[in-house]
Amino acid sequence: MITAGAITLGCDYNPEQWPPHVWQEDVELMAEAGVGLVAINIFGWSDVEPRAGDYDFERLDTVVDLLHSRGIRINLGTGTASPPPWLTTRHPEVLPVAADGTTRHPGGRQAWCPSSPVFRRYALALVEQVAKRYARHPAVALWHVSNELGCHNALCYCDTSAAAFRTWLQQRHGTIDALNAAWGTTFWSQRYGDWAEIQPPRAALSLRNPGQVLDFHRFSSDELLGCYRAEAEVIRRHSAIPVTTNFMVTAHIRNLDYWQWAPHMDVVANDHYLDHRLGDPVAELSFAADLTRGLAGGRPWMLMEQSTSAVNWQPYNVAKTPGQMVRNSVTHVARGADAICFFQWRASPQGAEKFHSALVPHAGTDTAVWREVLHLSAVLGRLAEVAGTRVVADTALVFSWPAWWSAEGEGRPSEAVGYLDQVHAVHRELRRLGVTVDVVAPGADLSGYRFVVVPCLYAVSDGDAQALNDYVAAGGHALVTFFSGIADEADRVRLGGYPGAFRDMLGISVEEFFPLLPGDTLELSSGGRAGVWAEHLHLRTATAISTYTDGPLPGVPAVTRNAFGEGTGWYVATQLEPAALRDVLSQALTAAGVARTGPESDGSLEVVRRCGGDRSYLFVINHGTAEVEVPATGRDLVEDRDITGSLLVPAGAVRVVREEQPR
Ligand code: GAL
Ligand code: ZN
Repeated sequence: MITAGAITLGCDYNPEQWPPHVWQEDVELMAEAGVGLVAINIFGWSDVEPRAGDYDFERLDTVVDLLHSRGIRINLGTGTASPPPWLTTRHPEVLPVAADGTTRHPGGRQAWCPSSPVFRRYALALVEQVAKRYARHPAVALWHVSNELGCHNALCYCDTSAAAFRTWLQQRHGTIDALNAAWGTTFWSQRYGDWAEIQPPRAALSLRNPGQVLDFHRFSSDELLGCYRAEAEVIRRHSAIPVTTNFMVTAHIRNLDYWQWAPHMDVVANDHYLDHRLGDPVAELSFAADLTRGLAGGRPWMLMEQSTSAVNWQPYNVAKTPGQMVRNSVTHVARGADAICFFQWRASPQGAEKFHSALVPHAGTDTAVWREVLHLSAVLGRLAEVAGTRVVADTALVFSWPAWWSAEGEGRPSEAVGYLDQVHAVHRELRRLGVTVDVVAPGADLSGYRFVVVPCLYAVSDGDAQALNDYVAAGGHALVTFFSGIADEADRVRLGGYPGAFRDMLGISVEEFFPLLPGDTLELSSGGRAGVWAEHLHLRTATAISTYTDGPLPGVPAVTRNAFGEGTGWYVATQLEPAALRDVLSQALTAAGVARTGPESDGSLEVVRRCGGDRSYLFVINHGTAEVEVPATGRDLVEDRDITGSLLVPAGAVRVVREEQPR
């Protein structure tokens, strides 16, 4: 990626937190660990511009040269992630404002309004200086704009943002009448006579207008993308080196529509941390990696941040078990990453992240973490030839941020229906079935896929719905899950029976939702169980695969199948328990003729293939506690030995086989 023909190992480095004598030791240890790419100056603003307009690059120059002297390449931060105190003191108007009108103050990070022209002026002045100074430095391999744009400040409700929102709305809707129509403002006497009357969806006494909330999400994502583009434009005036920023494709961040962002990145980079608040953090990692690959259009991408062990921002910050960091890393590589980077190099002795793990822990290098870093470095070294190859999948999953925002809007039928939960549920069972999944945007070209899953795509435009319906009509196989195709892109319900967007393709019509109370379950004629949701569903042209045998809708279909054109549309009208969902997916996969990359498992085994030119690589990651056997023939790069017919992977181990018969 950054170094051709290598899987890069990298990290964030914050030398400003350390006295210069530590820097020397740092670069020596980096060289020992084979660190090839180091991100610096991410939070460097107050260091390189200690007073307005007074730039001091001496320390950064030294660090840049020091890294260069050891052949380490630099991922250079523009430094704009967090404004220094002099800026927010001089210009308190750049501070962000929450939905309730209260200001978010400095003292943490990212305390700036994405729409603030004042913030932007100061930020771009800094970017100009940094870009000018380092554009021709031979060590600089990548530009790192800001940091995790929108991590904390995605939704700002200040007056400056309100004005920017109005301008954005004029561009989107053209006329005030069109806006009134899109937002359904006849409801609750909300009709606007003039743009000036429109506010961001600030905290209200009751449920807020869903169209307004949805547009505010879109606007906010666009505003931050605008910040990225403004910085990238300054950099590109001085430099031809690739520019990126670190995405947050992860379970707890949802405010950026990265399908809109991805085309503006020279390389797609993601930050990912295992989230122990989720039921299955390892499966979520695989999903996030697949989605990141989708954003990269299938091309190799970078893991810009992960942790060597615990983080410090979850309620229980679980340390990684032996081998887990290597498994996590190789899972990202298996799913398309060509660079594995970490936050951060050396654990901070102070500051808000002092209990966050690092490559060099507080305890130093005589530690399990450091030894595992060295091990990872060796493994990535052996995988060098994988760089540039691509994951191949014949199953796609349709994913949408606006669908996420609107599906979880206020006033929905059941708060138990979480968008990401529904997406994860489907992805998790496909993963257990040994199927590799590409994640695609609504409206994407589906013609290369045998099977497409559409979980909880609540809001969808006519065009994007048509793309799916056409795909099925032309012979594709699609499986749609409940609370999909309900509304259009303005969150207006499609009338005439749910799911309006896919009713014909699925050959059904739903007259009423029957959300269940927590703990209530339904029995199915297929023997499985379901919960959370049911629907009063009528078959039109579809046939029932299973029906409810108890609950409020006895005899009503829960899972259906429909022949549509040359293809097949499956519908799952309830939240099936995992085994029942797996069973339906399995039937649909077989009907679609999908090839499995690996054997079925309880999720503790993942098998993924990367292909390129005349080579293919089979990645086998054993997250489980027992040895597994997988059919393979070729060269195991991790163990450097030949495999004939059967690959034995010990508990907790990873293997990568260059296949004798490339796929
Ligand atoms: C990321 C961020 C890093 C660091 C890390 C801790 O969100 O980009 O600066 O805070 O999380 O896990
Ligand atoms: Zn604002």
